[in-house]
Amino acid sequence: MKKLLETNNLSKTYTQTQGFFSRIKTSIHALDNVSFCINEGTTMAVVGESGSGKSTLAKSLVRLVQLDQGSVTFDGNDLLNLEGESLKSVRKDIQMIFQDPYASLNPRLNILQIMEEPLVIHNLYNADKRQKKIEDFIKRVGLKVSDLKKYPHQFSGGQRQRIGIARALILEPKLVICDEPVSALDVSVQAQILKLLKDLQKEFGLTYLFITHDLRIVRHVADDVMVMRYGKLVEQGKTDIIFKKPKNQYTKDLIQSIPGLISTRN
Ligand SMILES: Nc1ncnc2c1ncn2[C@@H]1O[C@H](COP(=O)(O)OP(=O)(O)OP(=O)(O)O)[C@@H](O)[C@H]1O
Ligand SMILES: [Mg+2]
Repeated sequence: MKKLLETNNLSKTYTQTQGFFSRIKTSIHALDNVSFCINEGTTMAVVGESGSGKSTLAKSLVRLVQLDQGSVTFDGNDLLNLEGESLKSVRKDIQMIFQDPYASLNPRLNILQIMEEPLVIHNLYNADKRQKKIEDFIKRVGLKVSDLKKYPHQFSGGQRQRIGIARALILEPKLVICDEPVSALDVSVQAQILKLLKDLQKEFGLTYLFITHDLRIVRHVADDVMVMRYGKLVEQGKTDIIFKKPKNQYTKDLIQSIPGLISTRN
């Protein structure tokens, strides 16, 4: 299997000044020497409680967060040192889907404009082909061509997440980073969106980095899982092995805390 993404010793410290006169400085190790690798066409889940560094990790891969240290190889490229056209081309290959699709969809644009934007930014296709692509992708995520005229507020949460997915996938990326993509949705809608993501993965051979705090979802979607705590990777491995035989006490506690899950004690 081909490695799509490999990271080495990713570290990030945030420094914050506290207090009115800003004399007290605190630092938070949001990422502390995080190394992992994802194979093409697979799903890697990232789990860990709030503040463990999951979103910082995601943002560092799309270069929204500047790392202090570390290297990332993506599809054979040294991701953190790319510039110009090669950076632009890799940017197209790594897309993100966010937790709150409402916040990430511009309320003043209709769905057609929302989906056209990434194609315009990346200067892809002529107007005719763009229209065809947009119609194709809106249907692939289970919405209708007539929905393209509507605005984000006219859709339900689940439908908005479908739009977020369509917008990310229209660039035909290789890696899709999903940061808590279903945690704002009802359980029944969650299942539909997870199924859609799985179907699209099969169809396009997508690779997912799937961030969630919900271990039940991990069992459904992930081939591999990494467990983060205070910016450190405390355990990583194949999902079924981690669930059957967690080595780290923190992972054990996380698994034990899943409601309704009968875990095997060892
Ligand atoms: N821009 C920032 N400036 C300062 N500190 C930050 C910043 N962004 C994140 N942090 C801190 O870094 C740590 C990791 O944050 P991060 O958002 O990566 O966690 P997370 O695992 O995504 O949490 P959640 O599950 O709540 O989304 C936290 O302690 C957070 O307060
Ligand atoms: Mg987060």
